Amino acid sequence: MNQSVFGRIRLGYIVIGSTRLDDWRRFGAEALGLHVDLPSGDLLAFRVDDWQRRIIVRQAADEDVIALGWQVDDEASLERLQARLRARGIETRGTTGKEAALRGVERFVAFTGPKRQTHELFTRPIRTDRPLAMLTSGFVTGASGLGHAAITSRRPEAMIGFWQDVFDARVSDHIDARIDGIGLDITFLRLNERHHSLAVAATRGLRMDPIRTKLQHFNLEVSSLNDLTNAYVRCRELGYRVALGVGQHTNDRELSFYVVTPSGFEIEIGWNPIRVTDEANWAPTTHKGISIWGHTPQDLSFGSKAQQFGRALASLGRPEFNPTANAGDGR
Ligand SMILES: [Fe+2]
Repeated sequence: MNQSVFGRIRLGYIVIGSTRLDDWRRFGAEALGLHVDLPSGDLLAFRVDDWQRRIIVRQAADEDVIALGWQVDDEASLERLQARLRARGIETRGTTGKEAALRGVERFVAFTGPKRQTHELFTRPIRTDRPLAMLTSGFVTGASGLGHAAITSRRPEAMIGFWQDVFDARVSDHIDARIDGIGLDITFLRLNERHHSLAVAATRGLRMDPIRTKLQHFNLEVSSLNDLTNAYVRCRELGYRVALGVGQHTNDRELSFYVVTPSGFEIEIGWNPIRVTDEANWAPTTHKGISIWGHTPQDLSFGSKAQQFGRALASLGRPEFNPTANAGDGR
């Protein structure tokens, strides 16, 4: 039962709850350059490859990512993960039918993870041979998955420990950063050869959470440098707010920019991150600063920064849920 699931799991789909479906359709199709399908009036489904659905936006008041779907290689690995969750007292819920179809899978198993994020595990995506109609030449998915998710946490040790214990996540490296005068420690976790499928960011010293949404951003990897620069130009021309302009990260060397979605969290469009292909010789290091160059803040107003600061202060009085911690801590 203790066989590792490392390399057998990857980010598969993302479910977003929003009331701004018209704007999401325009943002996804015309700015990001994704293939869009409109299965019904209260649902958008974006494709980036031969999966029927990758990013699903459903009508809901959250204005947030409401679930992350993780693809697991086989039923045995899925069983192993469920057993580990159950052993920690974490309930899992198997679902088929309409809710599974909405995600483009046959069946998924949901659980509530750290920070009350909903995670869903599945083995079989529904694929399609319908041609893609998108403004991007391609997205890199395959064995390393859809991209990555970045989360702010006031209990980073508990959150990182959860992913290491249950999902056999490995620490790729750390970044020691200073953003708007606030010290940040960011830990990058990999589940396969993608440098990171998850990044956990925490303020140094007093732990604060300045972000309203459950994810700070998620990342999509485009196939070419042209795809990256064209997406950047489209986002600017269509008037979407670019949080950080084009730059290159210190650790995974990815070229990227960050744009604010209609729901308020950000999407990072990136190109050419390094992969961890030599597990035996990889040693985690700590990088200073998130960027070698660029990633200059662009369109974020003073008001939105002040709001973030207010949220950070308010978060001090709030416990952060962790499913494996003692029951009295967290709501
Ligand atoms: Fe990122």
